[in-house]
Amino acid sequence: PASGILAGKHVVITAGPTREALDPVRYVSNHSSGKMGFALAEACRDAGARVTLLAGPVSLATPQGVTRINVVSARDLLAASEQAVDAGCDVFIATAAVADYRAEHIAEQKIKKQGDSLTLTLVKNPDIVASIALHAKRPFMVGFAAETQYMEEYARGKLERKQLDMIACNDVSRGDIGFASDDNAMTVFFSDRFGLEKVILEKANKHVIATRLVECLVQAGIN
Ligand code: C5P
Repeated sequence: PASGILAGKHVVITAGPTREALDPVRYVSNHSSGKMGFALAEACRDAGARVTLLAGPVSLATPQGVTRINVVSARDLLAASEQAVDAGCDVFIATAAVADYRAEHIAEQKIKKQGDSLTLTLVKNPDIVASIALHAKRPFMVGFAAETQYMEEYARGKLERKQLDMIACNDVSRGDIGFASDDNAMTVFFSDRFGLEKVILEKANKHVIATRLVECLVQAGIN
């Protein structure tokens, strides 16, 4: 059996962007690289956990010893998340940059070039982390946030609204970190019921940040 601070735990991690089809050849997405989620998968594996990585379309190699399930859209990711949680999950970590909206109708044929403007109607996607937090077998829930201002206020608001246990927040007003970068700097906030102070993680490689985040989980009682 694995040893380490997460030995015996099953950790499910969402990572990367989602891709929302408009027609057979086009989609709406974002620039998420998936690096933070993949680094967390490795850190949780190294801490002894069994890890399931639910990955949107990214060009990263699957970490050794990690079970990877590829998904495309937000709705795919929600279905895969529910399945993984139903199967038994101790910690759910949501690093995916889920597209907030998808096309109301996916055109069956390629949309033809038309006049000078084209109107697309988008509808809201499900919030995956908030949905899983309402699950009967609720795992310890970890979310991420990227804020350009009022970081603490917005992060704590998100923590409460989505019923998370812990949230790791990037300050994206700094141009030198986040998204496609290899580095990150984060502040971690916990649900009030843990009575824990916020933890400031100074700028470091995403692998170092991931290891620190695993320590934060354990501090909140996941051991
Ligand atoms: O609300 P916002 O998108 O800023 O929240 C970010 C957090 O919520 C991240 O942990 C992200 O993975 C998760 N999220 C989600 N499903 C969505 C939107 C965000 O799981 N549809």
